Amino acid sequence: MIPVLAIDGPSGSGKGAVGAAVAHRLGWHYLDSGAVYRALGLAALWAGVACDDGRALTDLAQGLELRFVPGSGDEPAVFVNDRECTTLLRGPEAAAAASQVAVIGSVRTALLARQQAARRPPGLVADGRDMGSHVFPDAFLKIFLTASAEVRAQRRYDQLKAKGFSVTLPKLIGEIRERDERDINRPVAPLKPARDAVVLDSSDLGLNDVIDRVVAMVEGRLGS
Ligand code: DC
Repeated sequence: MIPVLAIDGPSGSGKGAVGAAVAHRLGWHYLDSGAVYRALGLAALWAGVACDDGRALTDLAQGLELRFVPGSGDEPAVFVNDRECTTLLRGPEAAAAASQVAVIGSVRTALLARQQAARRPPGLVADGRDMGSHVFPDAFLKIFLTASAEVRAQRRYDQLKAKGFSVTLPKLIGEIRERDERDINRPVAPLKPARDAVVLDSSDLGLNDVIDRVVAMVEGRLGS
């Protein structure tokens, strides 16, 4: 059985940075499932499909082409339906669209096999909202990474500023609360820790501390 480490949590909890770094340390594959929903959100905006049109979004999800092309920078270039959108994918527009398309059950089903296909030897680190609860229920370790809304907004602010987006902290705090609300209260695959998840609050921890703790937990479970 190929081992899966599931890292779930709200926006800005640091699960992306932690997941990618832990995958790198272990030499495992990495799935950024949020990128899949963001890609669909962008594809919908480009195609003029409303973010609540379930049937059209499901068709779009089935035909979605998402490619990560490693380049010279830290992050790979991202192509959605052959359109380069590396920066756009990380922006607030894609985030808002992703959060809306993600509430539709048939869209989630259409994207399930694509996410599960990322499980390849020697192992997978998967980050998102429902990795431990739905996509990889047999993950050997499930971590629910969280932090206060203020800390998460500050992290997002720093990231987006560095990428050249024009954002303000109060607006980001509002957006994060709004997105949490939608992600937590949706009937399909709501954002909540899996029953057997370890909850890790990173509000007062630096990135490297979180990475070290997660790697230690993995090694503890795998017995290496
Ligand atoms: O992690 P992120 O900010 O890139 O996620 C963007 C949106 O996608 C988020 O609002 C909820 C949705 N999402 C989801 O519903 N399920 C996942 N496994 C990953 C993301």
